[in-house]
Amino acid sequence: MHDPTFGGPWATPRPPTEKSNLYRDLAAGCEALFSGEADPIATTANAAAAIFHTLPALNWVGFYFLRDAELVLGPFQGRPACTRIPLGKGVCGTAAVRRQSVLVADVEAFPGHIACDTASRSELVVPLLYNGRLIGVLDLDSPRTARFDADDQTGCEALATVIVRHLAPSVLS
Ligand code: SME
Repeated sequence: MHDPTFGGPWATPRPPTEKSNLYRDLAAGCEALFSGEADPIATTANAAAAIFHTLPALNWVGFYFLRDAELVLGPFQGRPACTRIPLGKGVCGTAAVRRQSVLVADVEAFPGHIACDTASRSELVVPLLYNGRLIGVLDLDSPRTARFDADDQTGCEALATVIVRHLAPSVLS
């Protein structure tokens, strides 16, 4: 007899928030998009599009890849952006050097912020790391101040793990 009070594997102490559902679906969606595809441009182009069309209030999302001592623009969604960012410069270069995510609630308050799109008000940059080695960064911009919070950081870091696991063999070979 079915017991309506038993939630089985879905019985969690706290139901997931809408945001965590978004990130869970996004990670699963990226896994599916990457399946059987080894080309890093094809996969990151689809990842950028999936993120842009899933997360609300974004005006730019994309990848920069480490080439020598610079970050070079990769696949993205949004307005045309600067093609090269030296390590240590801007939010992207800072996240790359620190090898840690950088969450900026107000880009105008971040010294050295590089304004590729003047509509951007807040930004989240997550490094793409494979066994401690920097591959590049994932950059998200929003036209809303303080658009990103700790949950977005956790969600995007989980997404970066999925992306790196798939990218690493082709990017590092
Ligand atoms: N704002 C970034 C530059 C890249 S664009 O946002 C696409 C930065 O400060 O590094």
